Amino acid sequence: MCGIVGFVGTRNAAPILLEGLKRLEYRGYDSAGIAVDHRGVISISKVSGRIEKLCELTDGGKTMPGFAGIAHTRWATHGAPTDVNAHPHMSCDGRFSVVHNGIIENYMELRDELMGNGYLFRSQTDTEVIVHLIEMYYDGNFKAAVMKATSRLEGSYALGVLCSDEPGKIIAVKEASPLILGIGIGENFFASDVTALVAYTRNVLYLNDGELAELTPENITVYDCTGTPVPKTASRVTWDIEAAEKGGYEHFMLKEIMEQPRAVKAALTPRIQENRICLDEFRMTPGELRGIRKIVITACGSAYYAGCAGKYAIEKLCHIPVDVQLASELRYSEPQIDSSTLLIVLSQSGETADTIAAMKECQSLGAKVLAIVNVVGSTIAKLADYTLYMWAGPEIAVATTKGYTTQLSILYLFAVYAAEALGLLSEKEYQRLIGELQALPQKIQQVFDMNGILPRLASKYNTARSIFYIGRNTDYAAALEGALKMKEISYLHAEAYAAGELKHGTIALIDEGQPVVALCCNDRIAEKTMNNILEVKARGAQVLALAVKGNRTVLTQADDVIYIPGTDSLFQTVVEIIPLQLLAYYVAKENGCDIDKPKNLAKAVTVE
Ligand code: AGP
Repeated sequence: MCGIVGFVGTRNAAPILLEGLKRLEYRGYDSAGIAVDHRGVISISKVSGRIEKLCELTDGGKTMPGFAGIAHTRWATHGAPTDVNAHPHMSCDGRFSVVHNGIIENYMELRDELMGNGYLFRSQTDTEVIVHLIEMYYDGNFKAAVMKATSRLEGSYALGVLCSDEPGKIIAVKEASPLILGIGIGENFFASDVTALVAYTRNVLYLNDGELAELTPENITVYDCTGTPVPKTASRVTWDIEAAEKGGYEHFMLKEIMEQPRAVKAALTPRIQENRICLDEFRMTPGELRGIRKIVITACGSAYYAGCAGKYAIEKLCHIPVDVQLASELRYSEPQIDSSTLLIVLSQSGETADTIAAMKECQSLGAKVLAIVNVVGSTIAKLADYTLYMWAGPEIAVATTKGYTTQLSILYLFAVYAAEALGLLSEKEYQRLIGELQALPQKIQQVFDMNGILPRLASKYNTARSIFYIGRNTDYAAALEGALKMKEISYLHAEAYAAGELKHGTIALIDEGQPVVALCCNDRIAEKTMNNILEVKARGAQVLALAVKGNRTVLTQADDVIYIPGTDSLFQTVVEIIPLQLLAYYVAKENGCDIDKPKNLAKAVTVE
């Protein structure tokens, strides 16, 4: 996602716009730009890199006088994060400038049409079609031209538009991407979220999809898609600037946990078109795929645990052996890797030093690399042969949540895609699996709706000396990540253990009251783990079980049960991890920990 902000008033716009961009930086920060209208001439300054670079370039906005302007901070989706792809974009005649947050799904056909009409494109973005459409439809009426242009768009957009013929006005349009209007005194604003506004005003108007707003220093007029004025009532923002950045949540981590239905949908939906999985960025042909003898997944931390979970789906569906290796180990082992190896690299930040080093080592041995990363233009994304972006939006909390689930969702998607390409799936099975993938966002949402008991449960575990997480197969993979979440934000010791392995020694540690989280969500083997519940209960353990809704037997065995919706056992981990994230969050909150910035940790470990 990106961030947009606009201002029109009686003081210079540029410094205000730059401040607004800084407040939106968590939404994306691979490039930024600003356009200001000064006496009927629009000037633009834009650059790849962080907003700080744009501030230096414009001397804090001093080099761009003018009382109306728009600005943008980018989370690239179409076109690399370069100066030319940065927003704002300008029409050929220099009369219009546009900033955009969202994805124009029909931009290719519009681009062809516009190029056929002689419009010259400078960027590889989807956004640029918008500014040329406005120019094409302009006959002297600014609002009408914007309305005609947006009527041609399919997809999601929050737009800000400048027109040099009307210097004291900016236009904002909303369709499926967030856009809020700020009401000032002798000045007005628009922004992607209240974060960018609350320093100047707490009186806001919320635009609905299909609405267009005309902003002048004295007025805001909102119109519906027919051009009919829509009366709006102002709302009062009660958040402080800090809370606003968290969208009203107490911590970024909780906000990002709750964002997961949207994030997983953003990772999957653009890649499932007309019931086919389209991985355009992964250009390996079926013939080349058939030449792959082994897949190695390498990553660190939670990304490594996502790989442990994704391994089951890839091996089961693609019949290719998958070796999941810690990057910090792989780089110093004698990796048995050659040109018949596909290396899958997982990294939210795309900057983890160990992962980069392991990736380079494997590339030097001939492996082709598929990277699944979140930060566009990151080092790993640049080094990889193929990159599938997670599109989770910036993840601020150090403890990853939506990063893990979007990574894992893309691994599932890849497994089904590759199995179909290898001719290993019937069309019926292919469509069933696609349906299961498409249902994941709402199943994650259902977990939130089913588990109000988690805050109370946390108070049963927040003083434990240690917590065991046990499970088998995909449940064990979830146990690994669940234990890490608990450790890294609540500082309680937690250990994930293969449930079948307990009796080979570790069960000696199970004493009266020892908390054990037992994951029994994989319907193929849940019964085995339920037997392990009886084993540890017999030794006095306090058991919290995770199970699929409808499993009533587990109620007779565990002290507490958290139910989740069922899905294909191969995909279950991405649903069952949600209550484990929330359990760790509420235990950490109970213990007063610094949840978003846990001690000793960093969001990206860019050193060995
Ligand atoms: C996850 O909660 C941790 N912050 C950490 O384990 C992280 O997953 C690991 O450092 C890998 O980071 P990356 O995904 O950015 O490469």
